[in-house]
Amino acid sequence: MSNAAANHAPNQIQSNAAITAIGSYVPERRMTNSDLEKLVDTNDEWIVRRTGIHERRIAAEHEFTSDLCIAAIQDMIDRYAVSVDDVDYIIVATTTPNAVVPGVASLVQTRFGIVSCGAVDVQAACAGFASSIQLANGLILSGMCRKILVIGGETLSKVTDYTDRATCILFGDGAGAILMEKDTAGSGGVTAMYSTTDGSLGHQVYLSGLAPSIGEHPLQQNGRLVQNGQEVYKWAITQVSEGITNMLTQYGIQPDDIDWFVPHSANMRIVDAICERTGIAKERALTSMGDYGNTSAASIPLALDRAVRVGLVKPGQLVLLYGFGGGLTQAGVLIRWSMQ
Ligand code: UT7
Repeated sequence: MSNAAANHAPNQIQSNAAITAIGSYVPERRMTNSDLEKLVDTNDEWIVRRTGIHERRIAAEHEFTSDLCIAAIQDMIDRYAVSVDDVDYIIVATTTPNAVVPGVASLVQTRFGIVSCGAVDVQAACAGFASSIQLANGLILSGMCRKILVIGGETLSKVTDYTDRATCILFGDGAGAILMEKDTAGSGGVTAMYSTTDGSLGHQVYLSGLAPSIGEHPLQQNGRLVQNGQEVYKWAITQVSEGITNMLTQYGIQPDDIDWFVPHSANMRIVDAICERTGIAKERALTSMGDYGNTSAASIPLALDRAVRVGLVKPGQLVLLYGFGGGLTQAGVLIRWSMQ
């Protein structure tokens, strides 16, 4: 059963936190569909038709999630001439941290020598980046923080089972970073949020840890991502479509009001089905799975940054970021774009 308890206050949020800079990074090494043909019984035609994925990036042996996150932040600093020295908080969304402790956020803090800030990792799988924006927005709205670094970064290749053709064709590595600050112009920023979770389906996609099972569901302890693709697929097209529709209804937004829709890039067929069910035009969907595969917490900032780089996203436009996946959890944020 779906739990939408977080959504009792559908009033539009006032005085928002806005995205003021963005950057991204993907590792150099490409893994194409024909490379995968050499590893498992699959083919380019099947992968493209069933997922929309052509290739993905794979981190080098010595490259870990913190390295990708740091490179994404550096890209942001270089392009926007911003400083991260004075951020109040670093929030890293990741399912593939370098270590369980310390978190990736602490490694980022050390690398940039940020003198005084909070540092947390958020583990909400493919909903991690949108969830982190929700948290950052809350900290800024409360007045307790002025400037927050939010990063989505993954090295999923390090936990992918390259003998399982149903999962290894999907996943890739990458990172995207944004700065969030109070919207001083009063014209933009996060204007709505939505979350819903169905933990009873959590065993349908997992990366095992300490416990041998989730409830009565035993987990494979192989240190690899395991999923029941068909069940996750069904949940995504039904429950995620319903979640998006609920969110839009609660805030009085019509599907046509959305200029850009940035869903988690799980599978192109899932995105198409969500668009059909919610009434959001497919042409407004920005995705990153074609070139990068499913990069979990990094997929949304990678797709967003690509669109920002080519000038597609303009001030005043309404952008819906919507993450969904492991948990099974969903998180959406609606942003009135204010960045030039
Ligand atoms: O972000 C994390 C959350 N995860 C997801 O969003 C994943 C959601 N699920 C999916 O994207 C899809 O379910 C998959 C891409 C994983 C699989 O696509 P599908 O259309 O659901 O395929 P299927 O599992 O129904 O399998 C259809 C057939 C099977 O063969 P038979 O039993 O019909 O003979 C599979 O064995 O396709 C076979 N198959 C493959 N064939 C060639 C499965 N994987 C492959 C493959 N290449 N890589």
